[in-house]
Amino acid sequence: MTAANPMMSTETPSLPVFVRTPSQAAEDIAAEILELVASRARAGRCAVLGLATGRTPLEIYAVLARRVREERLSLANVVTFNLDEFLGLAPAHPQSFRRYMCERVFGPLGIEGERGHLPASDVSDAHTEAHCRAYERAIAEAGGIDLQVLGIGSNGHIGFNEPGSARDSRTRVVELADSTRRDAAAAFGGLERVPRRAITMGVATILDARRIRVLAFGAHKRDIVRRTLESTPGSALPATFLHGHGDVRLYADLEALGTGFQGASSR
Ligand code: PGA
Repeated sequence: MTAANPMMSTETPSLPVFVRTPSQAAEDIAAEILELVASRARAGRCAVLGLATGRTPLEIYAVLARRVREERLSLANVVTFNLDEFLGLAPAHPQSFRRYMCERVFGPLGIEGERGHLPASDVSDAHTEAHCRAYERAIAEAGGIDLQVLGIGSNGHIGFNEPGSARDSRTRVVELADSTRRDAAAAFGGLERVPRRAITMGVATILDARRIRVLAFGAHKRDIVRRTLESTPGSALPATFLHGHGDVRLYADLEALGTGFQGASSR
């Protein structure tokens, strides 16, 4: 999509907004990913994807799975790096992000074990620092992330970079915010079962991605979307660090943008 697309209703100077339903956004982003993968394959190179978990990207993964199946596409040249993972869970725990990725992405897309990277959920305290450094090194050795899929937490986190995270932060162990743990409580069957710590790519790791596609849908994201669009960049709201990235797009529906969204009436 280009700025001339009639469905693009407005553009802030530094965080372009694409008004899309979740289904439209999933089709657009899946198409962009598959074009990237194909162009890299023609050049004999890998495509490096940064991937997110949570509810928001599920439809992208479903579209990718459908297109790979129906069009018999090969993703043999795809390497992926996930944003984050809970700490203190067995890798096969139903709520681990590794489990999510195996079921929703790696299996359906045929991305085999060593090409799909996530931080470890079961690394011991003695080894977390080396593990985080190795994660950064692996991203660099893969050539850097070509396209990062990203959600926004209700408190403005990106990955698990909670409020207070620095612009220059790198992959590290973090304490999860209370609001993040509360958001995850139902899935874990109770707040007390939600891990307190996680490993996340840093803000700087995310901003190093050549393209960033951020998604936010539904009225429950309205407040955080508005604050992200209106605030100047700062640690209080890590999503604001996306402002000014060279190739970032926010895909959001009208429920998330709100009726007061400037330009929405032009659709
Ligand atoms: P969600 O999570 O996609 O489940 O809303 C977004 C996030 O916390 O980054």
